[in-house]
Amino acid sequence: MTDDVLAVHGGTPLHGQIRVRGAKNLVSKAMVAALLGESPSRLFDVPRIRDVEVVRGLLGLHGVKVTDGADDGELVMDPTNVESASSDEINVHAGSSRIPILFCGPLLHRLGHAFIPDLGGCHIGPRPIDFHIQALRQFGAVVDKTPEGMHLTAPHGLHGTKLELPYPSVGATEQVLLTAVRAEGVTELRNAAIEPEIMDLICVLQKMGAIITVHTDRVIEILGVPRLHGYNHKPIPDRIEAASWAAAALATRGEIEVLGAQQADMMTFLNVFRSIGGEFEITDARVGRTGVTGVEGGIRFWHPGGELNAVALETDVHPGFMTDWQQPLVVALTQARGLSIMHETVYEQRLGYTEALNTMGATIQVYRDCLGGTPCRFGRRNFKHSAVIAGPSKLHAADLVIPDLRAGFSHLIAALAAEGTSRVYGVDLINRGYEDFEGKLAALGALVERI
Ligand code: EPZ
Repeated sequence: MTDDVLAVHGGTPLHGQIRVRGAKNLVSKAMVAALLGESPSRLFDVPRIRDVEVVRGLLGLHGVKVTDGADDGELVMDPTNVESASSDEINVHAGSSRIPILFCGPLLHRLGHAFIPDLGGCHIGPRPIDFHIQALRQFGAVVDKTPEGMHLTAPHGLHGTKLELPYPSVGATEQVLLTAVRAEGVTELRNAAIEPEIMDLICVLQKMGAIITVHTDRVIEILGVPRLHGYNHKPIPDRIEAASWAAAALATRGEIEVLGAQQADMMTFLNVFRSIGGEFEITDARVGRTGVTGVEGGIRFWHPGGELNAVALETDVHPGFMTDWQQPLVVALTQARGLSIMHETVYEQRLGYTEALNTMGATIQVYRDCLGGTPCRFGRRNFKHSAVIAGPSKLHAADLVIPDLRAGFSHLIAALAAEGTSRVYGVDLINRGYEDFEGKLAALGALVERI
């Protein structure tokens, strides 16, 4: 017996309302940014997820006092007394998240040295950090890689530089931003990521006193300033979580209103959702005859009945279709009539989870070729990164082991859509990025229980 297993009695459409809070992939970075300030920061609407706990632990080890504020989801971070932590203490967090790498610049600015443990995060390919290291070296950091982690110093300080990323990496762009804001002089970053979470991080940094200009064509210019102060910030909502619940509504032929979901950051997803045959209504700013009602809005997603349509899609950097949206949506695509294509162009190995769906009755074949779109970086490198999904398939229950965060959620959706009782192992991994997913499942009428 272990309590990391969920029995999922499938076949019941999900119905109801849930709420998403601040985006995991912004909140964790905004928490790191707090380290750069010389006065306390307040972050609102912070979800209770494991990635937040990891960053909270790392901040605490470095002397940042992190406390819960008066409001639910409010976090107060006081970086007045930043101090060194021992590598043994830091290594407790090894393998738990990708975020520690973003501590490099802030710690170098605050302490003159940094130790970064071995990284974790989802196992969705090799996930190298070469762009990060190259950028840090260009700023003047000395990076010493050892078996237990990475030691960094900046003997001559950090200086603005000209950089061009080989690929618009989210993490490397954040690394550059968090380092350049207090580096001496101007930094010009070309081929930067421009995801909404990056723009929100730039908002946070601007509130702290940074001078950052976003030019056209993925060029970001940062004029370093000698000091920054704390911020007050309400993060953008989690568009990955919102899309995950939307996919759950479609796959189970249900209806879910995701409070807090924001249309602007989900336009690409919404277009695809509509093309498949799903319906949605934007319920933000519920305007009655007398004006906005004051009720919190979001997006209501539902399956209108009848058949879903097959589509050809490829994942891409913003404003393309997010790689983190593909796994939950593929489950819904198993219910669409015809052949759908999912060409994954961001990560080389993010389709492994489809094997589990096949054991449940789906018909998904993965290919090395770049199918259905433009050739990508992985086409010539022998990675199985295109999936063809033939539907509709009747899904049946199975025993499933959760491989990573987003694939894990897709397993859960598949189990909810399938006939019979599935056992889903390793569900705690889902807590890394989905706040209280079991509470939300219960609110939506899902029949699940810990066994
Ligand atoms: C962020 O990861 C997110 N994680 C990911 O979400 C998300 O899938 C990804 O961005 C893309 O949107 C967090 O924000 C914590 P990348 P990140 O650097 O920053 C290659 C989730 O489930 N690359 O944009 O690590 C890399 O291998 C997670 O919430 C290098 O080659 O992603 C990949 O192919 C999973 N060298 C591509 O760039 C480097 O030094 C994009 O990665 C860095 C990246």
